[in-house]
Amino acid sequence: MNAFVAPIAVLHAESLCTPSTALRRTTFVTPARTQSRLPTVFLPARRTPPTASLESDVRTALNKLYDTTPCMPIMVRLAWHDAGTYKVADGTGGANASIRYLPEKGHAANNGLNIAMDLLEPIKAQFPAISYADLYQLASVVGIEHSGGPKVPFRMGRTDAGEADTTEDGRLPDADKRMGHLREVFYRMGLNDTEITVLSGAHTLGRAHQDRSGFDGPWTKVPVVFDNSYFVEILKDEPDPDLLRLSSDLALLDIPETKALCEKYANDQKAFFDDYILAHQKLSELGCFSTSNISSS
Ligand code: HEM
Repeated sequence: MNAFVAPIAVLHAESLCTPSTALRRTTFVTPARTQSRLPTVFLPARRTPPTASLESDVRTALNKLYDTTPCMPIMVRLAWHDAGTYKVADGTGGANASIRYLPEKGHAANNGLNIAMDLLEPIKAQFPAISYADLYQLASVVGIEHSGGPKVPFRMGRTDAGEADTTEDGRLPDADKRMGHLREVFYRMGLNDTEITVLSGAHTLGRAHQDRSGFDGPWTKVPVVFDNSYFVEILKDEPDPDLLRLSSDLALLDIPETKALCEKYANDQKAFFDDYILAHQKLSELGCFSTSNISSS
């Protein structure tokens, strides 16, 4: 048995609010036998680790941002470009917020994503306990929900990369290329053909910008709504002249298996959402957790 019996600190619920109130409202219960020998000890208030309430507070802040600034699409692109550098063979890259450092931030594929990172800075300042890596991924899943899309399961706990962990240029896909190239890039991440197809459905949101990628225009008629219209549009024999189709979008029609998936998703939004949440959660956790809570892939 220990010679020294430590006093037991009982924290009042409200003491979790701020360090100063935590200290003021801490009650120390000392076992009676040792009471006379023990000095009064004030434990320093500890910084709370990421909690469910932190996640919920950040979700509220993100939804407030989206109510005034409908920047959900660029947040989805930010999170994807951070995670999409993953290389399963050596565990480099992934959803670790290395995208916020040069040279990665300056790669041509990431043009314009500084806008998304800057928009998230005030939320990071308000909630410093959340890692950038969690914040970027949470901004994406909340953005999808805010746009009417499915609720993608989310786990907190990603660790931020250091400056030395940025990845080399060329890990993200090229919009001018077809299925062979997409497979090379996505297989490197550990993703399969179904995941390539269903994740491309995120182009239901947002648009291309001439000054960022050199392409211009949205993929769907209502690019602030997350639905299955991307698949409906790319399957049309006569393309809508106002809508965009990248070579990498049309690549999904190159092989019978992925074309059949596009047809399934175009006809059945629930099937699209069901597959999307699995693939998006997997993407959002690339390189982050040693165990997976994803039931199938
Ligand atoms: C399959 C390979 C992919 C290629 C080649 C590709 C390429 C592009 C390009 C060129 C843009 C336009 C950027 C701009 O000019 O602002 C873009 C935008 C976008 N991408 Fe992709 N993408 C791919 C996959 C994905 C995936 C997997 C996701 C998410 C899961 C995604 C989400 C988005 C979103 C939401 C936008 C709109 C951004 C905005 O409105 O600012 N993309 N993508």
